[in-house]
Amino acid sequence: MSVLLINGPNLNLLGHREPAVYGTTTLAEIEEQVAAAGAAVGVDVACFQSNYEGAIIERLHAARTDGTQFVIINPGAFTHTSIAIRDAFQAAEVPFVEVHISNVHAREAFRHHSYLSDLAVGVIVGLGTRGYTLAMSFVLERLAKG
Ligand code: DQA
Repeated sequence: MSVLLINGPNLNLLGHREPAVYGTTTLAEIEEQVAAAGAAVGVDVACFQSNYEGAIIERLHAARTDGTQFVIINPGAFTHTSIAIRDAFQAAEVPFVEVHISNVHAREAFRHHSYLSDLAVGVIVGLGTRGYTLAMSFVLERLAKG
């Protein structure tokens, strides 16, 4: 069984970027935590981060056929702009959870809309970097149920 964790633009700077908003945990630490949760129950985790919209789209295309059973994604700012990533999810037909570290609804109006949320199985918003492991725990429960 296999889960794909995708992080979008600027999230490679987690831990250093606006720590008051995004905290001090690095992306490497998050990836390690999510992978460890998977490994504990025999689920592989593939981690992918890109600052490029097209690279994320191509990774989703690959997920159609590479055995990915669930995606956890923080699309970063592409959340609010990318119809193309939305279309890629519809093409990939892989279920996903959308994660946002900050409470986007308590921030600027342009962060209130997501092009992905209505396609997502669920959305975790504003619970800090803990949102990733919470999403993973939900995904593992889903996969265990089959
Ligand atoms: C974010 C929220 C987005 O609005 C922002 O562009 C990000 C991070 C979050 O995790 O809170 O890059 O997705």
